[in-house]
Amino acid sequence: MLQVVIAGASRGIGLGLVGKYLERGATVHAVARDPSSSAGLSALAARHGERLRCIACDLNLPDAADRILGALGEAQLDRVLLNAGIPGPRAQDVNTVTDAEVAALFVTNAIAPLRLARALRPRLRDGGVMACTSSVMASLQLNVGGEMPLYSASKAALNSLLLSWSAELGDSRRFSLLALHPGWVQTDMGGAQAPLTVEDSVVGLVEVIEASAGDQACRFVDYRGETLPW
Ligand SMILES: NC(=O)c1ccc[n+]([C@@H]2O[C@H](COP(=O)([O-])OP(=O)(O)OC[C@H]3O[C@@H](n4cnc5c(N)ncnc54)[C@H](OP(=O)(O)O)[C@@H]3O)[C@@H](O)[C@H]2O)c1
Repeated sequence: MLQVVIAGASRGIGLGLVGKYLERGATVHAVARDPSSSAGLSALAARHGERLRCIACDLNLPDAADRILGALGEAQLDRVLLNAGIPGPRAQDVNTVTDAEVAALFVTNAIAPLRLARALRPRLRDGGVMACTSSVMASLQLNVGGEMPLYSASKAALNSLLLSWSAELGDSRRFSLLALHPGWVQTDMGGAQAPLTVEDSVVGLVEVIEASAGDQACRFVDYRGETLPW
């Protein structure tokens, strides 16, 4: 039975991934700031019982990794999915954004996921998958429209940190490392006008993640399995 960590699990794509892995029979360690206030996690707990283990943690806390490792106990992991993200300020303008807003955006979207990935790596079994939810907006080649420049820069920073970590690990890496684009999805972040439902996105994401198990790729890939240019 797979042991899966999903961070940023209270709603949206993260909650959808929790539900999909539970349906597949996995044990899911769902990390959320306040699991008890997530109606979605409560409904999944009622349906799946002990296979859903909730961990309360704000991922931006400096000791987030220690808290999560403590809650995991001795569990060895097969999949680590670092999904939490924020869009940043409504006005995505370098002239008006405050330093505090920049810090929150880059810590949430780029620094915290890598901190956690590095801390959980010793728990990941050989052949496992470590994946961060990125965005096509991170692609320097594809994101030519220039919408949401601060958010895009934070996701580009995430991808850059993933590539640097992959290079640092070199041949010692025994797991797949993925930057995932979930598509444009109907969530609080994506908005109601997005073309994809959470179900559409997570069905694809889980297929892509499971197809990557057992190899040692470092890929930027979308929910349909299409490789994206960094
Ligand atoms: N929706 C899209 O179209 C789209 C497209 C491309 C990429 N993405 C990426 O996909 C991921 C999920 O997005 P979504 O659309 O599902 O967004 P969402 O509905 O706004 O959900 C964001 C999730 O991240 C969690 N989170 C944020 N900061 C956190 C922190 N410091 N500690 C713990 N949890 C935190 C939120 O928890 P709380 O409930 O506690 O706030 C929530 O569970 C994000 O990384 C996003 O950038 C989304």
